[in-house]
Formats: sequence, C-alpha cells, structure tokens
Amino acid sequence: MQVGLLGHGVVGSGVRRIIDGMSNNKTACLCIKRILVKDEIEMVEERMTRNIDDIILDRDIQLVVECMGGKEPAHTFVKRALENGKNVVTSNKKMLASYGDELFALAHQKGVKLLYEASVGGGIPWMAELRRIRRIDEIESFEGIFNGTTNYILSRMEAEGCEFHEMLAQAQSLGYAERDPSDDIDGYDVAYKTALTCLAAFDCFVDPQDIPVSGIRNITKKDMNYANEHGFSIKLLGKGRKKDGILQCSVMPCFVPKGGTFASVPLNYNAISSVSETLGRAVFTGQGAGSLPTAHAVVQDMLDIATGADIADHSITPCCVDESAEVTCYIRGGSIPFPYVAETVDEDTVITVPLSYAKLKELTDNTRGVMVIEVKK
Ligand code: HSE
Repeated sequence: MQVGLLGHGVVGSGVRRIIDGMSNNKTACLCIKRILVKDEIEMVEERMTRNIDDIILDRDIQLVVECMGGKEPAHTFVKRALENGKNVVTSNKKMLASYGDELFALAHQKGVKLLYEASVGGGIPWMAELRRIRRIDEIESFEGIFNGTTNYILSRMEAEGCEFHEMLAQAQSLGYAERDPSDDIDGYDVAYKTALTCLAAFDCFVDPQDIPVSGIRNITKKDMNYANEHGFSIKLLGKGRKKDGILQCSVMPCFVPKGGTFASVPLNYNAISSVSETLGRAVFTGQGAGSLPTAHAVVQDMLDIATGADIADHSITPCCVDESAEVTCYIRGGSIPFPYVAETVDEDTVITVPLSYAKLKELTDNTRGVMVIEVKK
C-alpha cells in the first residue's frame, strides 16, 4: 500500500525509520511514497514535498499518516484526505480529541478507516486491547498514567530530589514533551487522551474542555516529601468511569501507594488499567512517549489497514461529564475556607472534605501557585 506521510519530526521520522529500515521485510506491504515536511526542514530526499496536494491528489496513495501534531493544519489535511477516500492513521491526540466527531463520521461516510493507536499511551497497544476486551465485556472504568513527560519529571523528582524545571528541560531534550510543554504539565495532553479513551471504551465523545483538569506545574519538593512520609508517590492520572449512563472523568495528580501498580512506573513509561466484567482489572504498560515506541504504534495501525484486519467502527454519542462526583484533596497554596477543610497539614496546606469537581474548581481557580493532589479513599 502506498503511503503519504505528513510530518517528519519525532514521530514521523520514527515511522520512516521503521518502514524503510526493516531488514526482515515485515512491513513490505507498506511503501512511503511522499513525505510532507515543514518549511524549516531541509528536503533531503526526492519524495519530500511541501505541497499537501502532492499527497491528497495522488490516486496511488491510499493511506495518509498524520504525525504533524497540533490542531491546524493537521485537521484540514486529515479532513481532505478522508474526503478524497484515503484511509488515515494519526498520532495526534489534540487534533482528534477536538474534531473526532466530525472526522469519524466522515470516515464512516466514505467507507475508510481512521485509526489512532499512537495518540494514547505511546507504544502501548491500549486501543487495540480495549477493542478486544469489548468483544466480550463492557468497560466499567479506566485509569492510568498517560503522559511520559510528567511521569519522567515526577519519577526523577521523587528518586533524586531534583527540581521541577530542571527535569522538564531534560524531558524536552529527550523528545518526550509537546511543542508547547504546558499541554503536558498543565494536564491538557492527558485530557485529550482521556477523552479519546472515553471514545474507545464507552463510545462517548467528550469535549476535553469539559474534563476537570489539574496539572503538576506547581509541584515542589515539599509535596514530594509529604507523599514520601505517608507512603505514597505522586502520579498524574487520567480516569474515566461510566455507570447507568453517567460519565465521570478527570485528570489530576494523585497520591498512589508505594508498592502499587502505578508508583513504580518509571521515566517516560505509561501504565493504564481497565476494569470490565469477566476480565476484571487488566494493566497495560510501556513507553508512552519517544520516537520509535510511538512510531511502532503508528506502524501497527498502518499494517492493520494494509492487511485488512477487522477493525470495528465507532458509533459515537456526544456525552457530558458529570461534575458532581466528589474528590478529597491535598491543597497547598490556596486559601480554603473552614467548612471545606478536614485537616490542616501546616500554614499553607490542607486536606479537604470530599468536594465536587465544580466546587474544587471554584475554590482553586485563578489561585497562583496552588497545587492540588487527589487523596485516594
Ligand atoms: N508529550 C507526550 C507525553 C507525548 O509526554 O506523553 C506522547 O503523547
């Protein structure tokens, strides 16, 4: 199958390396015909182009692989590819979480595939496993570490007592971070992945902006020390649950018990668990960011399309997130009024009574430097 590759950055170059560089012929059914590159990238190969029409209007290209990142022009290019009857594989969670309802409907109408394994969990075959679990079970809930950059920062801060900004710079230099790292550290990257997991697990299309989100930008050694003294690590978790038609999801740093599933997940690794009726709890782990692990997931989708693997379409229902679910929090740096305080840790840190996400937002929004961590009950 002839392929048009959009983007030759961290992920796109990994896809090219896997497909062009395989000595064992395992991807022989795939051939990258054209590569769309940005103005600032030197065109070192004849098949590179700066003109999207060289891919969209090429009738031999049946599969477009989008690894550009960001909402635009990725969204427009993917839409044009689908309109022109091409299958699409994307690693772009931000674009797909924002426009998935439109793009999946278009793919369905055109009778082509739109696959997105690499957009959630990097190299972990998470979407593929959800599809397999759902052949037998309904998914009841999921939770996990969905972001390699923040996991790298948190695990190195915990292990070596390093400062936040030092570790962010390292994660960026290793190619884990987004172009705008605030998507990582403020939790939005996990919100996109949580929204896409709600789609794959529950057929629910959630606007990522409706998911309650809290990030790790303000974390300090003091928070790490508190966790350590109480037998916890701190991990940024995305969660989703659907019961009786009510969807709950959130993105928050959480205290997780040392010795439990999530505490020992190191560096850029992700770990995601699902709960379903007959399988019970299952945990999937692997590298959640980085060139070749993410490219591996992209190439898996490409092979599924090229070999005609049986991949179910989504039926999509737009869903609202229930914000009345309650959460108990450690809050440092906010000014939390008495009725919401269950325990005072010190002069600027409290443990709250259970608060709805809506109340938590009201109490902490626009408070500079505030750090919120979920206390698991
Ligand atoms: N910035 C993302 C992460 C890349 O750190 O997980 C993979 O989605």
